[in-house]
Amino acid sequence: MTSKPGTSKSENPSGPAEWAPATRLVHGGTLRSQFGETSEAIFLTQGYVYDSAEQAEARFKNEDPGYQYSRFANPTVSMFEERLRLLEGAEACRATATGMAAVTAALMSYLSAGDHVVAARAMFGSCRYVVEDLCPRFGIAATLIDGRDIEAWKAAIRPDTKAVFFETPANPTLELVDIAAVSAIAHEAGALVFVDNVFATPMLQRPLEHGADVVIYSATKHIDGQGRCLGGAVLSTQKFVDDYLSVFIRQTGPSVSPFNAWVLLKGLETLPLRVKAQCENAARIADHLAHHPCIAKVLFPGRDDHPQAELVARQMTGSGQVVTFCVNGGKAEAFGFLNALQIVRISNNLGDAKSLVTHPATTTHQRLKPEARAELGITDGMVRLSVGLEDAGDLIGDLDRALAASL
Ligand SMILES: Cc1ncc(COP(=O)(O)O)c(C=O)c1O
Repeated sequence: MTSKPGTSKSENPSGPAEWAPATRLVHGGTLRSQFGETSEAIFLTQGYVYDSAEQAEARFKNEDPGYQYSRFANPTVSMFEERLRLLEGAEACRATATGMAAVTAALMSYLSAGDHVVAARAMFGSCRYVVEDLCPRFGIAATLIDGRDIEAWKAAIRPDTKAVFFETPANPTLELVDIAAVSAIAHEAGALVFVDNVFATPMLQRPLEHGADVVIYSATKHIDGQGRCLGGAVLSTQKFVDDYLSVFIRQTGPSVSPFNAWVLLKGLETLPLRVKAQCENAARIADHLAHHPCIAKVLFPGRDDHPQAELVARQMTGSGQVVTFCVNGGKAEAFGFLNALQIVRISNNLGDAKSLVTHPATTTHQRLKPEARAELGITDGMVRLSVGLEDAGDLIGDLDRALAASL
């Protein structure tokens, strides 16, 4: 078995790098052991034994390739990293225990006291915590802006800005940020561009191709796709990994468990099929809800009436599988609707084979002040639906029944 811990660039340039994405996702990164297993092995081990004390010394000096300790790297984790790296077309990938570990490691490994970060304010509540609360505690100034507004990015970026960070589409409002335009502005100021690509998935948007420097995933979502394991990943240049990320992961330990990495690795094999089917279901549901008398508004990147439809077409190759909509009324009506659903379950997760629905104002975005929610357009009648793999007709029937029963 050949392996290179921590970094995972393909050693066979005529192989995986030239395969189509579906092939990369089935075969890419496989490290087959001497037993010739078909399915990738789970190396559920904390450490590794050395042939001699000299070899141990050499490995710690990075003079001997191989594994030392699973906080630093592990063969199953390497397989997951390499497979995702091949899909994303990045130079390097490092996996983490959760999506939030990936966000925190990517930003905190790079930023120092005295730096400034600019972020789009429409983002997942925990990501906002990292930027708004955690960064300033360590002397990193943060400015939050309306990520849709290019002039706001220009105005916020300063000479000491080292990073810009945004989600696109954003949770739960499905607002987009123009990756190419913001990257050009950030790069002019010498800042790196960090994109949380969770909602788009690696199947529908490649931020690096639009100029971003670092791509972050919660692998908990579509990459697992069946609601089992937490995980995350950071993809970037080899230099970013070598200069910042690797040492941070090695010394602070947000490392993913080999078992979870194995589940995520196997999840990648079916990712294109699942995301395609989920997007098709989501499009049918969004169109249906857009004409429903109990629905005040539908937000869906796959519809022509999305406020940034032109940017969706330029930047994404698919709609995503989240449909956000506002029921007529407020919290009571939204809760009544959620409680009346039978197939779609109430859960704050997304990207699952099971359709899941949440009320952002009281769950994922509860910690924001009401004014901050109002600024983002997160109303009390807003519902976020993560569309799963069930039959679209059954899902529409469930939504219709619950709307009729509650509104
Ligand atoms: C956009 C986005 N980023 C990051 C995360 C964090 O991921 P995790 O739950 O795996 O830490 C989530 C969801 O939880 C999310 O929706």
